[in-house]
Amino acid sequence: MTIHSHAMRDEDAVPTNIERPTPDMLKRAFSLFPSGVVIATTLDAEGDPHGFTASTFVPLSVDPPMVLMCLNRSARCFEAFMTSQRFAVSVLRPGHEEVAMRFATRGADKFKDVVFDRTGDGLPVIEGALATFECRTSGRHPGGDHVILTGVVEGLCFEDGGAAMVHFVRSFRELQV
Ligand SMILES: Cc1cc2nc3c(=O)[nH]c(=O)nc-3n(C[C@H](O)[C@H](O)[C@H](O)COP(=O)(O)O)c2cc1C
Repeated sequence: MTIHSHAMRDEDAVPTNIERPTPDMLKRAFSLFPSGVVIATTLDAEGDPHGFTASTFVPLSVDPPMVLMCLNRSARCFEAFMTSQRFAVSVLRPGHEEVAMRFATRGADKFKDVVFDRTGDGLPVIEGALATFECRTSGRHPGGDHVILTGVVEGLCFEDGGAAMVHFVRSFRELQV
């Protein structure tokens, strides 16, 4: 393998095309980062289900087993995730586009007429997900207009292989293995 070294020249120091971000530019630039798509779900104190589509899922730690998600403070389901001690994450696959859009629609009746599986402690999860993580909420950290939610994975199931759903430039795509 050849490693090419690159000497820093003065004109490299301040690239001329770097601009201060506006919210619109930020959203466009963020959309260029391809990501997987998940649906996070939880139950509120009354036992009612809540959930949202997310691309901010991060496999965080193996020992202890942990995942991370970011939730917008303005989401309707925000309160439920802030008070609940548990949440589940379903990793979506091609064919889940409709349920992904429903869970991305603010205030939609997300659980109506959809067949869900349930984890051992009753959290609804998406049928046919590539992987499912059952988590105990372990931290809530400020992150600008989002809250960074961490969870310890207490249960999981998954299927080896299969196509993945990827979100890139504002649309769902299919990644074939
Ligand atoms: C592909 C995709 C990824 C998203 N990722 C996130 C995310 O990581 N965090 C978040 O708070 N909202 C994310 N959203 C937006 C939420 O799904 C959306 O705001 C949802 O309607 C919130 O539900 P609620 O306000 O009805 O509770 C994403 C939407 C899409 C389409």
